Amino acid sequence: MSSVTLDRWTAAQASELAYWRGLDLREILRICAEKPDFLALLDESTQRGLFDGKEVLEIGCGPLGLSLVSFSRHKAGLRRLVKAEPLPRLPIAETRLNQDAWAAPFLAWVETLAAEGEYVQTSGEDLGFEAAFDTVVTYNVLDHVRAPLPLLRNAWRALRPGGRLLVGVDCLSVVGRWRFEMVTRRTHKGHTVVEAHPHTFLPDHVARLIEGAGFRMTGRHGEPSRLRGLIGKHSRPAFLADKP
Ligand SMILES: C[S@@+](CC[C@H](N)C(=O)[O-])C[C@H]1O[C@@H](n2cnc3c(N)ncnc32)[C@H](O)[C@@H]1O
Repeated sequence: MSSVTLDRWTAAQASELAYWRGLDLREILRICAEKPDFLALLDESTQRGLFDGKEVLEIGCGPLGLSLVSFSRHKAGLRRLVKAEPLPRLPIAETRLNQDAWAAPFLAWVETLAAEGEYVQTSGEDLGFEAAFDTVVTYNVLDHVRAPLPLLRNAWRALRPGGRLLVGVDCLSVVGRWRFEMVTRRTHKGHTVVEAHPHTFLPDHVARLIEGAGFRMTGRHGEPSRLRGLIGKHSRPAFLADKP
């Protein structure tokens, strides 16, 4: 899967920032709800192995700073959480959610989660960590980046030997991807759905990328059936791999 130009990625990030600034209550509820849904693809012992007593790096946590890890009950045992994100940190008060004063207790809880760990403003392609983490997470990010493979190579470099990678990424069906690339890119040019997604994947593309970055695949969860993988809606499987 190839890289896109810096200009294309910069346009994607502008669209991304507009999306986050325009967040409403319905969308933030969805963003929060989908994370435990995704984590539920992994059993308790897998989540414990990823997070409990571990130093964890998340690449692309979003400008609110809401980590996937914050939605796992096993975060209680975390030793360190670093959240890398290219967009500047965006407080909820600077989004459209500031109009939803009646939801203040919920939004205050979201801010508490968003404050967990350390927020580092950098893109995954520019990460400089070397053997500093036990786990790297990248959730709903790979189809938004400039260069997926270099980013995964940096994830590999950031891990200690034996460290684990958890990837969640939207995957299309064969027909869905063809339609997106051939039709939607033209009919929805200028819309977030196109602008913020420089890449589209099938599940096998993601697995090849992960292995291409030097990882050993250890698990694939939540993949569609053969038929759905051919003509169905998108899915967001969990890919688990380790650094040998
Ligand atoms: C759809 S959002 C998902 C955010 C968060 N993971 C979540 O699920 O709520 C995609 C995120 O990827 C980030 N991103 C885009 N390019 C990136 C890159 N090169 N390195 C790291 N993150 C990137 C965007 O800034 C954005 O925050």
